[in-house]
Amino acid sequence: ILQALKARQVLDSRGRPTVEVDAIVAGGAIGRAIVPSGASTGRHEALERRDGDPARYAGLGVLKAVAGIHSTIAPAIQGMDVDDQGAIDAALIALDGTSNKGRLGANALLGVSMAVAHASAAAREEELFIHINRLWRARAEGLGEDVPKAPTLPLPMVNMISGGLHAGRNLDIQDILFIPIGAESYSHALETIVAMYRAVGAELARLGLESVLVGDEGGYGPKLKDDEQAFQIVVDAMLACGLTPGEDAAIALDVASTHFFDAASRSYRLTGVERPLDSDAMVEMLARWTDRYPIVSIEDGLAEDDWEGWQALTKRLGASAQLIGDDLFVTQTARLARGIEIGAANAVLIKVNQVGTLSETLDALAMARRSGFRPVVSARSGETEDATIADLAVGTAAGQIKIGSVARSERLAKYNRLLRIEEALGPNAAFAGRGVLP
Ligand code: PGA
Ligand code: ZN
Repeated sequence: ILQALKARQVLDSRGRPTVEVDAIVAGGAIGRAIVPSGASTGRHEALERRDGDPARYAGLGVLKAVAGIHSTIAPAIQGMDVDDQGAIDAALIALDGTSNKGRLGANALLGVSMAVAHASAAAREEELFIHINRLWRARAEGLGEDVPKAPTLPLPMVNMISGGLHAGRNLDIQDILFIPIGAESYSHALETIVAMYRAVGAELARLGLESVLVGDEGGYGPKLKDDEQAFQIVVDAMLACGLTPGEDAAIALDVASTHFFDAASRSYRLTGVERPLDSDAMVEMLARWTDRYPIVSIEDGLAEDDWEGWQALTKRLGASAQLIGDDLFVTQTARLARGIEIGAANAVLIKVNQVGTLSETLDALAMARRSGFRPVVSARSGETEDATIADLAVGTAAGQIKIGSVARSERLAKYNRLLRIEEALGPNAAFAGRGVLP
């Protein structure tokens, strides 16, 4: 039974205010969660409530969101059963009453929603991923035999080189990521990832490029000639690590193309390409890249409202590559349903704060699974020591996770949590290997 909520303003990995919530249950167990925050946010995401007082934290304070938790949310949900995540999340959604959670703020709602899940697990002295797995099994009931239901360690996709809004726009593409597709276990994957991260750094240093400073998600942020040079550097690092590109090592991209899409002219304006590209030309460029480099996954290859372009991209590359909608779907079932119906994308990025409650996140995961869309659980560029998404990925057997690089402790908090979960699951821990990719 939920006894009290205690919320406060703390700071995220960019030094920006965010919401932390303690959910206290009768008997004294406490669940704590901290809310993440994006930089390359989609237009359709649930709204973060920020104070807008320029005198304090440049207007980014979350004291109003925190106050709303104490004054409005706590009195309404105190006394509810923390094991009933669905009922609590439904109450939160009803209390806010808006379609974008703009009144109380998705940051307030999510902080409470996640803290409640932690409290429920803590009250039973149970690992969070076990509790989430119970919620997932209930949600996944009725889904086919082929939908994985047991706790499963995810295959990570990991930032090597960062650009876009995360690294001063040195590249058009936001992330060039590495996937250790040859890994046989999570800890084996992590070791390969660290070796690759070092090798990319060494390759950058060899080329006389910036190899020390890192972007918001821990990826290197060198000034490069063009996007293809970044792919080549990652391929060369694979070879230096004794990996075989396409065999046991692959590239994923987060193009984050919404952020260089010009809505007025309906064109994509890349700094490295002379003329603006229309959707077809973008699809051609992405297809060319996948021909030349071991690219198996492309996120936000097209902009958040370019549905027709997405359909063309999916027709062209959908059989051979994972095409992830991030800004396109914003973890919301209404948008995901449209993508499933018209054949736009074949995978969905899952970010808890894009939708604002744990239950709605499970809804998006279940909808994805029902229609064969691959889910990739993801962190934000603004993160904290909160590692809830590690448990979410394992508990829902999502298969893939995207946390950022193996630098910066807000990233390592999740990688390390996955190591502890691997240990807790024991020698027979299920690991989602390359089979989760096309
Ligand atoms: P964001 O970036 O958290 O800044 O939105 C992550 C992503 O685009 O996947
Ligand atoms: Zn993205």
